[in-house]
Amino acid sequence: MPDFMPDPAVNANAITISALYKTYDNGFKALAGIDLEIKRGEIFALLGPNGAGKTTLINAVCGIVQPSSGHIRVCGYDNAVQYRAARSAIGLVPQELTTDAFESVWNTVSFSRGLFGKPKNPATIEKILKDLSLWDKKDEQIRKLSGGMKRRVMIAKALSHEPQVLFLDEPTAGVDVELRKSMWAQVRALRETGVTVILTTHYIEEAEEMADRIGVINKGQLVLTEEKNALMQKMGKRQMVFTLRDAIQAIPPALSAYGLALAENGAKLIYTYNTHQASHDVSDMMDVLKANNIRPKEIDSRSSSLEEIFIELVGA
Ligand SMILES: Nc1ncnc2c1ncn2[C@@H]1O[C@H](COP(=O)(O)OP(=O)(O)OP(=O)(O)O)[C@@H](O)[C@H]1O
Ligand SMILES: [Mg+2]
Repeated sequence: MPDFMPDPAVNANAITISALYKTYDNGFKALAGIDLEIKRGEIFALLGPNGAGKTTLINAVCGIVQPSSGHIRVCGYDNAVQYRAARSAIGLVPQELTTDAFESVWNTVSFSRGLFGKPKNPATIEKILKDLSLWDKKDEQIRKLSGGMKRRVMIAKALSHEPQVLFLDEPTAGVDVELRKSMWAQVRALRETGVTVILTTHYIEEAEEMADRIGVINKGQLVLTEEKNALMQKMGKRQMVFTLRDAIQAIPPALSAYGLALAENGAKLIYTYNTHQASHDVSDMMDVLKANNIRPKEIDSRSSSLEEIFIELVGA
């Protein structure tokens, strides 16, 4: 197949990974059979503890790490056979920042576009720099920028050749909360233009905030891939903790349908329910509590975060 011809059968996916293994030279099995499809226009978050294999997986797709076996397609292009086409469909913001410290922002970003054989296009570079709030820094040397600005330069660099798939390996590590939020907005805006985004993060709220779908990787294996909303629905538990005016010894039979639990020697009553499948009306339960002379003086409510779900899954 010529280098420029995508295989239409698999072209619907941005990324198709099948039976991917990577054993490093020292014998370490970093990827142990990954199968994953990522649709065009998706924002996919890859979560997992340190050393799980996230960067290895991304680097394999980007052609930086040579897989031991398996197949990867990027926008229909075979990563091994149609390497150039596959690679030029990808923009990568690596976990480790690498830029020429003495070069200017403008040159760094423009040069990167040239590396992919794309013709010069100052208007595109200007738009990318403006979107990332880097326009006023365009003539500054990289070394004079703050850490957060450097990260944004890396993103600008990755976008310079107008890739269809953007990989962000820990994009907001060391970025302050405000800037992080603005980066999230920029990533969403990119998706609006049809770009597929795959990111890794250690900030659970980042995945919760941005992703359409979440994959959890542990010890080189994908232990779960799921729509974020479905995942939250399935595992999104909520608890209401009633601190009682007077402790009770036992839960009255009239309340048995609610699956309540007593804590702190009867001083607290805990109601656990699923956020998205509320089978009980809380106000009904309050009526039954009252009828049984159980009076809460305080009510606390908490929901499980993606972090708790993640810890439960990988047993970290
Ligand atoms: N070049 C290499 N040679 C040998 N082992 C390696 C090499 N690169 C990575 N590893 C090992 O492979 C495993 C996966 O590393 P990887 O960088 O993919 O993890 P990660 O999920 O990205 O972790 P982090 O969250 O810390 O970035 C780790 O145990 C790491 O030590
Ligand atoms: Mg990593």
